Amino acid sequence: MSTRRHFLKVSALTGAGALLAPRIPVPQLFAARRTSPTLARFVDVLPRPAVMTPVTGTAGGAATYRVSMSEFAQQLHRDLPPTRVWGYAGQYPGPTIEVHRGLPIAVQWQKNLPSAHLLPIDHTIHGAGYDQPDVRAVVHLHGGKVMPEDDGYPLAWSTSAGEHGPNYYSDTFLYPNDQPATTLWYHDHALGITRLNVHAGLAGFFLVRDSVEDALNLPRGQYEIPLVIQDRNFNADGSLFYSGEGLTSAHPVWIPEFFGDTALVNGKVWPYLEVEPRRYRFRMLNGSNARFYHLALDKGLPFWQIGTDGGLLPRAVAMPRLLMGPAERCDVIVDFSGLAPGTSINLANNARSPFPDGTDTRLPQIMQFRVTSLSSPDATTPPQNLLLPNVPLLDPTGANVRDVVISEIIDEEADAPLEGLLDVKYFDMEPDKLPALGSTEVWRIINTTGDAHPIHLHLVQFQILDRRTFDEETYDETGKIVYTGPAKAPAPNERSAWKDTVLSYPGTVTRIIAKFELPAGAVTQPGQRLRYLIHCHILEHEDNEMMRPYEVVC
Ligand code: C2O
Ligand code: CU
Ligand code: CU
Repeated sequence: MSTRRHFLKVSALTGAGALLAPRIPVPQLFAARRTSPTLARFVDVLPRPAVMTPVTGTAGGAATYRVSMSEFAQQLHRDLPPTRVWGYAGQYPGPTIEVHRGLPIAVQWQKNLPSAHLLPIDHTIHGAGYDQPDVRAVVHLHGGKVMPEDDGYPLAWSTSAGEHGPNYYSDTFLYPNDQPATTLWYHDHALGITRLNVHAGLAGFFLVRDSVEDALNLPRGQYEIPLVIQDRNFNADGSLFYSGEGLTSAHPVWIPEFFGDTALVNGKVWPYLEVEPRRYRFRMLNGSNARFYHLALDKGLPFWQIGTDGGLLPRAVAMPRLLMGPAERCDVIVDFSGLAPGTSINLANNARSPFPDGTDTRLPQIMQFRVTSLSSPDATTPPQNLLLPNVPLLDPTGANVRDVVISEIIDEEADAPLEGLLDVKYFDMEPDKLPALGSTEVWRIINTTGDAHPIHLHLVQFQILDRRTFDEETYDETGKIVYTGPAKAPAPNERSAWKDTVLSYPGTVTRIIAKFELPAGAVTQPGQRLRYLIHCHILEHEDNEMMRPYEVVC
């Protein structure tokens, strides 16, 4: 969290009158630095996550998967000793779960993690007190349209010893897969330690396929590859280094953002991938805790983006660069055809951290593609010619409008962030956003901080309407939004598109529109309230109060 522009004083919580933000210069980068050992780039082959197989067939209902979460050692770079990581089914990242639209699956998430955490816990963080077991886990299917008991509520955790949190229901979750073909991912969501559990390795892909996508003649099989981009720091012995030194006395261990100096894709440090001179489909995911990426390919090769968080775009969009905040997905086609064998194409990044104005730009390279020769002709449809399905736009006319205010609380003595909040409320306060089941609402995300935040809603895939800058000082003093510029249309890859995570820029109101629906076949009682979440997907923020429940009212 950079506090360059604006912050609320702690008095905001007591409602003590007007808030005047002192403009004290504070350091831009809060993550404690440790320089990782120098590692040669592009010496390891990009791993492809395995595809998970169910333990039972589809006979008699949902296919069932059994997935164990555990700690193990895995080699992340040729010259690093094996690193202790956490993973699903003994793999980091976890194996990919592939499903077909409308065919539900059940997953038994088995906890076989050790009782001591791999990374330093801050016991002052809400939900991570000394009275809680150190290692707790609960899996969330990010972007999945699921019922609340299958959503991985942060207090629905359980442990390997069989303890569980107050909202625990079961370790077996049902995924109805009642949504269009898209790139989802699953990751841990336990209260107060999500950043550590995901950092340790608990994340994997979940691909929904459907007949619309099947008919498109896209690259598939060995030419369709998921890419999860993450940043890490290493100690010389190969172990993960995640700072254990906080900036404030209130939170002696928590850091406001983690930025690593080493890039990993699919769990390998700066890997390379040999590609034939043909089209590839990459399912890209920013799986980092806090780092944004602004990606480009050498030689001006465009990313032909065909899909987003929640589904396919209505047309392929040629993106010279891709901006990806934590948790965002870009489904792209890259056309290597016409490139001479031996050509190297780097995937480069120039995003600042914290995004957009921070001073840390230490991760300029992510991975490398090396062109080999063609093994067979490429018969896939060029992206420009793809007949992608229309994406109907949600209509904001008459929609109920709600505000979501992002703010950061500053410890003035330490000159450092204490926590981030939504609506100046804590996670454990009663939810006050209660959209009616089936209704369409417009949410205005009002960012009063100096950083961009990737704001994520559970349950729904929404659409982005526009972004508009406002006067923060007037807002501080009066609580009124006075716009300082015209409304800006979303980027060409944002509208029309289904999104579950939206970039909210400093001093900007971002409007999104969502229809609050449950998966087909959901049985509910009138008046029943179903609890979901809205939160920042910078995991350090999410863990420290920038997360609120909301409830769909049936
Ligand atoms: Cu990907 Cu609530 O998270
Ligand atoms: Cu989610
Ligand atoms: Cu945030």
